Amino acid sequence: MQPCTIVIFGATGDLSQKKLLPALYHLQAENRLTEDTRIICMGRKESTQQEWQDLVTEYVTPRVRGGIDNALLQTFLEKVHYFKCDINEASSYLELKELITTPENNFSQNIVFYLSISPSLFSVVGDQLSAVGLNQETDGWRHLVVEKPFGYDQKSAAELERILRKNFTEEQTYRIDHYLGKGTVQNIFVFRFANLLLEPLWNHKYIDHVQITHAEQQGVGGRAGYYDGSGALRDMIQSHLLQVMALVAMEPPADMDDESLRDEKVKVLKSIRPITKDIVDQHAFRGQYAAGEINGKPVKGYLEEDDAPAGSVTETYAAMKVYIDNWRWHGVPFYLRTGKCMPESKAMIAIRFKKPPLELFKDTKVGDSHANWIVMGLQPDNTLRIELQAKQPGLEMKAHTVGLETMETDDIKHKLDAYEALILDAIQGDRSLFLRADEVNLAWKVVDPILEKWAEEQNFVHTYKAGTWGPEEVKRLQDNPCHAWRNNV
Ligand code: BG6
Repeated sequence: MQPCTIVIFGATGDLSQKKLLPALYHLQAENRLTEDTRIICMGRKESTQQEWQDLVTEYVTPRVRGGIDNALLQTFLEKVHYFKCDINEASSYLELKELITTPENNFSQNIVFYLSISPSLFSVVGDQLSAVGLNQETDGWRHLVVEKPFGYDQKSAAELERILRKNFTEEQTYRIDHYLGKGTVQNIFVFRFANLLLEPLWNHKYIDHVQITHAEQQGVGGRAGYYDGSGALRDMIQSHLLQVMALVAMEPPADMDDESLRDEKVKVLKSIRPITKDIVDQHAFRGQYAAGEINGKPVKGYLEEDDAPAGSVTETYAAMKVYIDNWRWHGVPFYLRTGKCMPESKAMIAIRFKKPPLELFKDTKVGDSHANWIVMGLQPDNTLRIELQAKQPGLEMKAHTVGLETMETDDIKHKLDAYEALILDAIQGDRSLFLRADEVNLAWKVVDPILEKWAEEQNFVHTYKAGTWGPEEVKRLQDNPCHAWRNNV
């Protein structure tokens, strides 16, 4: 491990309180931060070091797995510094530079700049850091970590890239998709490429279709103001679910080099059959939750949420049918869906195989054959289930479905949050779990025509009752009745 200085812009914000500071504490607990590593928390407000440390204690304590360790907390707090900064003011950056570069202060010259701020501020922060030379890798490396949203569509994402590129190179840029930091998502990769058994079956000859589901019980809560300009397609599918799909569909990379992995994901995204505006209705579907009930409690509809604009048609549920036109996947539909206010919070991949070529048991008591499934639960539990047909015990020749199942019950110590893995990789300079600019661009290219069409159609959106699996009419995307959504692992 190398020592480094982590500078968090927006350290007083929600993400920092709930994710970044607790993740850094856990890295400290795992002995992954060197003794000389320091964390500079940038905020607008006036605060003494003691007041800030008290606040950090308040943020971190309830989020520590297995309870806080006071001695460890003390060591962690010694690493944390508060820095009052006016993000637009050149003098703030001069002071920051002086703080970091004065040798007596003992800050490592390897710096992670973590931008946990609105993308509209990326430009000013980049320009100001560059004005004082802090982007230059003269005496140590510089890694710039940025959070989604990476733009609003292909055009705005390109503009954001232009802004980042003014002061930092692609090699210095770490775009976070927190899904890639989830151990269970990385497991897709291991499951596919550490087992020979699956590879011969993993293609259009044997797989009928693939479903990727992300459901959450929560509604948009206090986020309607932000969410209304985004919607489920941008918020979940353009980013997280297309990434999960790329991991399911990609070819084995040449090696474990970060670029090799990202090259393979890019090839999948490039091979997606374009969904042009005239065929959007056959490939995409949107819905919005209306009042309903979850876990026996009444839940209000999206339009009743604070800050949701009257008459908004922003989708809180989105589904898509995607074809990947390459040798492996030609003709296999990939169905992606996400929704808020669903009956359960879960994410899973369900892969349905084709039926055997000959219905040998059709006219016997065994009856029609059932297809095999592989189902991977990504959250809340990391599960894997392979469904096969077997003869029922007894004198009759009857079949039933049996499941071969594994369940990884992480012990509490290893139940890592995605941010721990990602921050560690950003420190170590491993970019495999971060998005490259071309991936972001291609993912926007896939969804842009849908977004455009939906933006034009402002008079109607299908609704679903909170606590249900989304509007019934989504069926229109399914090529075949056996493509009905599977809700259980
Ligand atoms: C975020 C979205 O990127 O992912 C949220 O902005 C969503 O709207 C969240 O709730 C889901 O993440 P997870 O890890 O809870 O599945």
